[in-house]
Amino acid sequence: MALSQKANHFLSNRSKVEPFHAMDVLATANNLQQQGHNIDFLCVGQPAAPAPLAARQAAADHLMNSAIGYTDAGGRGDLRERLSLHMKETYQVEVDAARIFITTGSSAGFNLAFLTLFDVGDRVAIAAPGYPAYRNILKALGLQVVEIETFEEDRWAVTPAQLQAAHAEAPLAGILIASPANPTGTMMTPDALKELISCCEDLGIRFISDEIYHGLTYEEETGVAASTALQFSDQVVVINSFSKYYCMTGWRIGWMILPADCIRTVECLAQSLYISAPELSQIAAMHALDCKAELEEVRRSYRVNRQLLLERLPQLGFDKIMPIDGAFYAYADATRHTNDTMDFAHKMLAEAHVAVTPGLDFDQDRGHRYLRFSFAGDHATMESALQRMETWLA
Ligand SMILES: Cc1ncc(COP(=O)(O)O)c(C=O)c1O
Repeated sequence: MALSQKANHFLSNRSKVEPFHAMDVLATANNLQQQGHNIDFLCVGQPAAPAPLAARQAAADHLMNSAIGYTDAGGRGDLRERLSLHMKETYQVEVDAARIFITTGSSAGFNLAFLTLFDVGDRVAIAAPGYPAYRNILKALGLQVVEIETFEEDRWAVTPAQLQAAHAEAPLAGILIASPANPTGTMMTPDALKELISCCEDLGIRFISDEIYHGLTYEEETGVAASTALQFSDQVVVINSFSKYYCMTGWRIGWMILPADCIRTVECLAQSLYISAPELSQIAAMHALDCKAELEEVRRSYRVNRQLLLERLPQLGFDKIMPIDGAFYAYADATRHTNDTMDFAHKMLAEAHVAVTPGLDFDQDRGHRYLRFSFAGDHATMESALQRMETWLA
């Protein structure tokens, strides 16, 4: 047997996760662009704006004048202190800097949280639709993924009754919730979040809160502000990131806020898995926290994009858009055009040069009817994409 065949035969079962279709669409779109086509990218959740100026300047100064080294596994003390202040300023919660742990993007935070809280075979609940990496990371770590379908009447949130029902089938060890969520942008009300956390505490289920889209909310339109899970319990694990609000996807920098009983375990795991998050990114991140005015300008540009898509997508037959309380996505029903959004998205990319994400990434049962449009790009891209889609669909 040839070595490559033999090697393939021995790939682990746990590594057989679904592709992230948004990334596959992006690869095709990049390929078309390299061939000279002009593509409108609405497929990835990535700000068009760069990291704030002061963050880039601080990184540039450090790069030219100092060595970039390992830091403590949990990150630089100054960044952790600054994040503690951020929690107080933003949510009026007191968080000791010792509970804050800097990670290589929130993606590393998921690995650390799952490894710290769960054993192989444990059942962990997530919402459908939801961010696909949750499912894939859980599976790769040997955990059982329990997807809970969410519905319009519950504002697309997992309810305590659903959680109790899933726990009664077989005990759950944890649940991971994002609010605002990806792909919908929908948020849980503070009361809904509080009730779900208190239900978890009653049932002995660990609660992980992905708060990566905090800061990106449209309160002026919706009247709903994001609450951190820490407002309701200090037993939750909060995962956050500089990728979205702070426009720092490529810097790979995020943070966790841990209950006291997890700190040392997370530290020991991170020492071996990552050593530390990149120091240059930690320096930039610390300065980004002081760039509110610049970042609010960026958020205002998303508000304008959001309004445009909310008006124009239904006119193009993409309707029943889920409430966009935050983040930068419109998740729309495309059944007026197709029952196979995977095929539709690939055709639209090839023929109209507009890249969007098929819903199967987010919801394996119902996603074939949905498309996700990211409005994190600039306004001209949104206008061009809408125009191209209109012409293509006519
Ligand atoms: C809900 C959610 N969580 C986490 C991530 C991962 O972000 P990062 O690893 O860049 O912090 C994403 C990226 O799109 C996301 O949408």
